[in-house]
Amino acid sequence: MAMVLWLLFSPFLFLSVSANTQTKVTDNPADELVAALNANRTAHKSSALTDNPGLACIALQYIKAYQGDCKAVGEAKKPADSEFAETFAPDCGVEASTLSPITGRLLGCQSKYVKPSEAFSMLMKNEKSLEILYNKNHTEVGAGVTGSDGGGPYFWCVLFSNGKHNSSFVAQGGVAKISRPGCFSGANDECSGANDLSRLHQMWLYAITAFVAAGYAFGI
Ligand SMILES: *[C@@H]1O[C@H](CO)[C@@H](O)[C@H](O)[C@H]1NC(C)=O
Ligand SMILES: *[C@@H]1O[C@H](CO)[C@@H](O)[C@H](O)[C@H]1NC(C)=O
Ligand SMILES: *[C@@H]1O[C@H](CO)[C@@H](O)[C@H](O)[C@H]1NC(C)=O
Repeated sequence: MAMVLWLLFSPFLFLSVSANTQTKVTDNPADELVAALNANRTAHKSSALTDNPGLACIALQYIKAYQGDCKAVGEAKKPADSEFAETFAPDCGVEASTLSPITGRLLGCQSKYVKPSEAFSMLMKNEKSLEILYNKNHTEVGAGVTGSDGGGPYFWCVLFSNGKHNSSFVAQGGVAKISRPGCFSGANDECSGANDLSRLHQMWLYAITAFVAAGYAFGI
C-alpha cells in the first residue's frame, strides 16, 4: 500500500491561542469541508459524493482514537481496522452490519484552527491526496473535525466509502449520535463554537505550544 506523509512545518514556531480566534467558525466546519471537497471533485468531472452522517460520525471517532497526539499522525500511525466494528460504529449508534468498505482516508492535524477551505488545502498537500480525492470508486464521504483539550491541535479527518446509499453506515433510528466535542458532517447539526470544537470555555487562554502539523493519506 502506497503511503505518503508530510510534515508541514518546523516544530519551533510558537504561537498563542485565544478563545476568540476559534469563534469564527460558522455553521459546521465538517459540512463546509465536504462542500469544498465536492466542489473540487465536480470541477474535476468526478461525481459529487453523498455526505453520510454515520460515516462522518465514524470519522470523528477515528480522530478521537489519536487522543490529541498530532505526532502520531505524522508517523502514519492509524487505529486498528477492528476498531471500526468494535468501537467507532457502536459509539455512533451505527449498525455494525451496515459497515461498508473504506475506499480512502485523509487525516491532518495542526496546532491552530484554520478555515475549512484551508483545511482542505492542507489535506491536499500531495499527489497521493489528489488521487484519493478523485478516485471514481467512492460513492460516499464523511468528515469530522475536533480540537483537543483546551484548544489545539485540531484534527480533520475525511473517510470515503463505496457503500450504497441508504444502506451503509446506517444509524439506529436513522440518526447518528451527536457527541461533543467535535463536529461531523451530514447530520444537519449546527456545530460551530469553540465549545463545540474543543470544550474551551469563556476564558482567555494563552497556550505556548510547539507548532505541529502533520497529515497522511491512505488509499484504503
Ligand atoms: C482542487 O484542489 C486542488 C488541491 O487543493 C487544487 O490544486 C485545484 O486547483 C482545485 N481545483 C479546483 C477546480 O478548484
Ligand atoms: C476501484 O475498485 C476496483 C474493484 O475493487 C479496483 O480494482 C480498482 O483498483 C479501484 N480503483 C481505484 C482507483 O482505487
Ligand atoms: C434514500 O432515502 C431517501 C429518504 O428516505 C430517499 O428519498 C432516497 O430516494 C433514497 N435513495 C436511494 C438511492 O435509495
